[in-house]
Order: sequence, then C-alpha cells, then structure tokens
Amino acid sequence: MQASNMDIIRLTLDTLTDSIFEQMVDIEANCGIFSYPPDVLRECIRIGDTYACMDDETVAGFITVDPAATDYFDTSLHIVNVNVATAYRRQGLAQMMIRTVCGYYANSHAGLMVTLDVEKTNVPARSLYEKLGFVASDMSSENGPTDLVMVVALEQLIA
Ligand SMILES: CC(C)(COP(=O)(O)OP(=O)(O)OC[C@H]1O[C@@H](n2cnc3c(N)ncnc32)[C@H](O)[C@@H]1OP(=O)(O)O)[C@@H](O)C(=O)NCCC(=O)NCCS
Repeated sequence: MQASNMDIIRLTLDTLTDSIFEQMVDIEANCGIFSYPPDVLRECIRIGDTYACMDDETVAGFITVDPAATDYFDTSLHIVNVNVATAYRRQGLAQMMIRTVCGYYANSHAGLMVTLDVEKTNVPARSLYEKLGFVASDMSSENGPTDLVMVVALEQLIA
C-alpha cells in the first residue's frame, strides 16, 4: 500500500492491542539506533500523542510527539520518536507521518516551532529532517553533545 493511503491511528492504552504493541516493540528493537525499551514505549502511549501508521493490520511506523515541550522554547511541538519498519523505509512514510501528525496541532500550536533531537551520526534521519525543512540550531541538546537540536516553524512544515 502507498504511504499516502495508509491510516494513521492515535494509540491509547484502552484500545491498544497486543499485536500492535508487539509490532512496535519489534520495530523499535530493530531500528538500528538506540532503542526505547517496551516500558518506555508503553508510557509514551499512556501519556498520549503517539500515532501508528497502519498497512491493514501491520504497523508500518509510529511517531510520538510532545505538544507541551519546554526544553528549547517556551512551548514547542517536540518530536520525541519516529520509527519506520525496515520493510517500509524509503517510501515516503516518515515524511507523511511527520507532516500529517504535526498538522493535527496546526490550530493549538499556531505560530510555534517544531523541535527534535537527532544523533549527529544518524544520516538517514538528518536527511529526512532537512528535506522537511528542519535546520540545525545552535542550542545544546538535552541528550548531550552527540545530538543536534533541529527546528522548523510548524506552518512551514505542514504547508
Ligand atoms: C529515519 C527514518 C525514520 C526514515 O524513514 P523513511 O520512511 O524511510 O523516510 P522517507 O521515505 O520519508 O524518506 C524521506 C527522505 O529522508 C531521507 N532519507 C531517508 N532514509 C535515508 C537513508 N537511509 N539515507 C539517506 N537519506 C535518507 C531522503 O532524503 C528521503 O527522501 P528520498 O527517499 O526521496 O531520497 C527511518 O530510517 C527509521 O525509522 N530509522 C530508525 C529510527 C530513527 O533513526 N529515527 C529517527 C530518530 S531521531
């Protein structure tokens, strides 16, 4: 299925199925970079603002955002985690998920920035974010010197 035809669903602990959670744990464990353990993934879902991109019953990718982040601005929409299953990579899925999900916050976060931390060595992710219009800022990452903080205006991202 093309990325643009896949459903994006908001995950809650009430509706989360074992199948969806197990697929997310597997994608996270095999993502090739630092992996969040299952309890952290579950906590992200509990807090809210985690979305899965579904190819029928298969989780193709997922994203968590923090709409109340205060690390780099008074408030920003912070991309906490974005992950695409290896079989679905390079099909535009991450671009579609980021634009679509950030678009859900167009009214609540009008005029605000979208922020994220990315490992300096994570070339695929940095390329993705640059393609979406993010630029490296000179702010120090809360993750330490291994990471960059990248920012873009929400309006520019979802235009
Ligand atoms: C980074 C990641 C989310 C990209 O997902 P994706 O769905 O494959 O990305 P897209 O298909 O939307 O790619 C969009 C653009 O990003 C860039 N890009 C994506 N993967 C790339 C790679 N392996 N090498 C170089 N550029 C890459 C390209 O510019 C690409 O556009 P193109 O395919 O037209 O050349 C995916 O590789 C992933 O899940 N990686 C592991 C987890 C991770 O690193 N998350 C980010 C943490 S900050």
